[in-house]
Amino acid sequence: MHKILVIHGPNLNLLGSREIDVYGTTTIEEINADLKRLAKAKKTRLKIVQSDHEGEIVELIGKAKGKFDAILINPAAYTHTSVAIRDAISAVDVPAVEVHLSNIYGREEFRHTSLIAPVARGQIAGFGKMSYALGLEAALHVIKKKG
Ligand code: DQA
Repeated sequence: MHKILVIHGPNLNLLGSREIDVYGTTTIEEINADLKRLAKAKKTRLKIVQSDHEGEIVELIGKAKGKFDAILINPAAYTHTSVAIRDAISAVDVPAVEVHLSNIYGREEFRHTSLIAPVARGQIAGFGKMSYALGLEAALHVIKKKG
């Protein structure tokens, strides 16, 4: 059974009421339920964590080696600022797929740069909650290609 670590970054617990013109009304619980359903169908185990804390995210990634086959991460605002999360992904030999609900390249200029993208296996952005489902498919694709 494949194991995937799903990380939701800061403020994503507020989805559903947060900037609904940008992120829609989908809640994090709905996203997680979709992911769990998809994972069950694909015989994949998920560990899902939401954290507002950069250090906690760094620690989770740092401990992923040997425990998870892939990481699915929406680093949220840390996408644009966190050298520490980027270095953690670089440090562990676990492929990461970066996802965003919104199309970060169509928004404010400071969101156009992802510090994570160069060390991720790929990025999916702009499809709302579907970005996560596509991200999970992409993570499984990467795992199977490796195996
Ligand atoms: C986001 C995009 C980021 O720029 C933003 O800081 C978020 C959410 C997204 O999923 O579209 O918090 O990662």
